[in-house]
Amino acid sequence: ATEETLVLVKPDGVARGLTGAILARIEAKGYSLVDIGLVEPDRDTLEQHYAEHEGKPFYEPLLEFMMSGPSVAIRLAGNRVIEGFRSLAGTTDPTTAAPGTIRGDYGRDWGLKVQQNLVHGSDSAESAARELDIWFP
Ligand code: CMP
Repeated sequence: ATEETLVLVKPDGVARGLTGAILARIEAKGYSLVDIGLVEPDRDTLEQHYAEHEGKPFYEPLLEFMMSGPSVAIRLAGNRVIEGFRSLAGTTDPTTAAPGTIRGDYGRDWGLKVQQNLVHGSDSAESAARELDIWFP
């Protein structure tokens, strides 16, 4: 059945001018943009979004990174779009993400304290519902 997911083009993707290239891949795959906007999330929003990572060593660097510049938030729809977008994005570590994926083609490890991996995609139907409420209230 048709479902929705939250996609973020993170600050590194926006700053590097990759928003268009990333959107082109999403559209070429056939998914539908339901809503899209440039956002500068505050700390409270990010604490909600990343609640499951609180306490991990990369948590503070992650929040700092996500507040370092604007992101593009996308409400994306399609059949099996949750797993489909995650496949398009590639694995978390951009150094070893498969070529042909967004992270594999455009990302690498910059030696910083957090993986700057260009995009976020919800990892389950539950996460998608929760995250869409945060970013598209
Ligand atoms: P995202 O899909 O947004 O979910 C959590 C984010 O934390 C992830 O992308 C990365 O940006 C970052 N992250 C996850 N694991 C690590 C790690 N081991 N070291 C540094 N950053 C990480």
